[in-house]
Amino acid sequence: MRLTDLPTPCVLLEQSRVDRNIDRMQKAADARRLRLRPHAKTHKSPALARRQLARGAVGICCAKLGEAEVFAEAGVRDIRLPYPLHPVNAARVLALVNRTHLSFIIDHPAVARGWSDALRAATRTVDVLVKVDVGFHRCGIDPDADGAAEFVAEVARLPGLNFRGLLSHAGHAYGAMSDQETEAIAASEARILTSLAARVRALGVPVEEISVGATPTARFSLRQEGLTELRPGNYVYYDRTQVALGSASWTDCALTVLARVVSKPAPDRIILDCGSKTLTTDQARGAGGVSGYGAVMTTLEATDHDPSLLIERLSEEHATVRVTQTSPARGGRQGGSLEPGDLVRVVPNHSCVVSNLVDAAWLVDGEQVIERIDISARGRIA
Ligand SMILES: Cc1ncc(COP(=O)(O)O)c(C=O)c1O
Repeated sequence: MRLTDLPTPCVLLEQSRVDRNIDRMQKAADARRLRLRPHAKTHKSPALARRQLARGAVGICCAKLGEAEVFAEAGVRDIRLPYPLHPVNAARVLALVNRTHLSFIIDHPAVARGWSDALRAATRTVDVLVKVDVGFHRCGIDPDADGAAEFVAEVARLPGLNFRGLLSHAGHAYGAMSDQETEAIAASEARILTSLAARVRALGVPVEEISVGATPTARFSLRQEGLTELRPGNYVYYDRTQVALGSASWTDCALTVLARVVSKPAPDRIILDCGSKTLTTDQARGAGGVSGYGAVMTTLEATDHDPSLLIERLSEEHATVRVTQTSPARGGRQGGSLEPGDLVRVVPNHSCVVSNLVDAAWLVDGEQVIERIDISARGRIA
């Protein structure tokens, strides 16, 4: 089967890029003796997790229990949930610990005690890490607050919880305006975690793991001392945001949306059949003020985007593309010459949310379709 045979819009995964992205991150982590535990929130697919595990990942991360249940069912034997789980979910967690090596995070005293009570009552012990806020200001304990190290030590003493270490997510790196800023965030993250770990160890509590994870900071976290684990997720596909942030090039972008031109009401206005139900309305982040809802590639090899094509508006099933100038894309056809029936490939602003909207993606090699990949954990939001 060829790309031209697929119904549009649909999600394509360029096999050589997926494999190269996985290999590169794995080799980089191995070279620094860091354990790589990819976040599966990006692909939500056991088939992709198997590719990562086969190349050396120690396990995966999931955000939600529903995702973890899918991956455990598919045979993934080590799953970490770097998400603040509430003990109201104890029955599901207890069912999961019978099927996979599960770990999760703690960042609140009452929640810690609730988990301890629930696990003790079930005579089970689960690995936990304390989540630390390194500047994103979402979840996590304040490492500078009075009693931060004591809180960690208290968690470590609670029955039913097997304290493993500290964990953070530098999500604020998505707002960095330069490589220097991203590097400074990665360095500060490592400093915050290693300093808190030293204070915890001084209280007599071993800290076995120091886990960080975000795709923008990954290349800089590799240079830091004292870390044990990397948890990037987006790197498996990358996207337009990662290109804007300098983490990837266009030819690293493994996930694209295949879309068809369905109308051309004016020479400077082209309508594609992919709307917000496919591309989502996520904005691109990263330096340079990237506008629009995705980068349009007019050649089916998807090697470069056409900067003259701006996806300026999305309806649910339509993308309105404005032709901003007449210069041709490098190596591609002139964007403004697209006509109804023509196919394009769109690099979305955020690949993780695009995966979440489709039941399956197509693994491709250029114009050749290799196989259908089920995105079995998509929509598992609880
Ligand atoms: C806690 C946590 N860890 C790791 C990741 C992976 O980060 P990225 O998507 O930048 O690869 C995320 C992403 O949201 C996250 O929330």
